[in-house]
Amino acid sequence: MKHLIDIENISKEDILNIVNLAKEFKNKTKKSDVIGKTIALMFYENSTRTRCSFEIAGQNLGMNIINFDANSSSLSKGESLKDTIENLYFLGVNAVVIRHNLSGIINNVMRLVKYPIHFINGGDGTHAHPSQALLDFYTMLEKIGSVEGKKITIVGDVTHSRVAKSNIRLLSKFGADIHICAPSYLQLENTQAFDVTYHDNVKEAIKDSNVVMVLRVQNERHEKEGYPDSSEYKRLYEIDTKSLKQYASKDVILMHPGPANRNIEVSSELLDNQLGKTILEQAQNGVFVRMAILNTLLKGGN
Ligand code: CP
Repeated sequence: MKHLIDIENISKEDILNIVNLAKEFKNKTKKSDVIGKTIALMFYENSTRTRCSFEIAGQNLGMNIINFDANSSSLSKGESLKDTIENLYFLGVNAVVIRHNLSGIINNVMRLVKYPIHFINGGDGTHAHPSQALLDFYTMLEKIGSVEGKKITIVGDVTHSRVAKSNIRLLSKFGADIHICAPSYLQLENTQAFDVTYHDNVKEAIKDSNVVMVLRVQNERHEKEGYPDSSEYKRLYEIDTKSLKQYASKDVILMHPGPANRNIEVSSELLDNQLGKTILEQAQNGVFVRMAILNTLLKGGN
């Protein structure tokens, strides 16, 4: 592996190598192979978890970290992303982590850049968020051992969710029984492209689920302001402790990539009780999984 752009292009073996390495980093039985290497964090869209966990992961590995600020960079003078990244390479940057609101932009820039810098997708538009899917998979393995044959239900705004798409692609490789629940106006656009079961009724969807992954309604990506109607969405799709206890498996794991809209897609009391703690553990595991990603991509040189 030289780059991490999406889940389709990495093998099951590579995925397992990353989660096993993340476990070693978490258990402190593995030392860094990338001390002194340099990453630039290029976030053109806001982030808390992804940006901070890549930064902490890099620090834990003894790397140099550049928090690239797009607003104060020469991009504002018209410099292209390709030229920016090539200049960063010549300044000594070994890898860039890019988050952007345009789907596919990282792939496109990677094809244009002529020098051997590593590309990591920190989330591009509605396309992919591979490091999130890897940390979600790691968390599921930690909690339920294996995903094969397990019912994993993703509830929410899948139309706009790069997290859902990357999770579906990853979990499909490992034989999970994947269910998607959303109102018709937030469903996946190309339903034939994914081997999943679709629902619009949340009680049916979460019935006997081993994992319920709730997604944020991404208001900033909706064309019409105030759509969907929050109170209507909450009435039909909000996950709370009662619905989880009543319909899901008794050992259900609640997940959410964050940030969460409290009392819209998930109740505030559920987030704050024991079931909600897994969501914080997801964020914590993000550090170890991102250490594994950086170590894997950068250990062999550019
Ligand atoms: N899950 C996730 O990508 O969160 P951030 O937007 O805070 O990075």
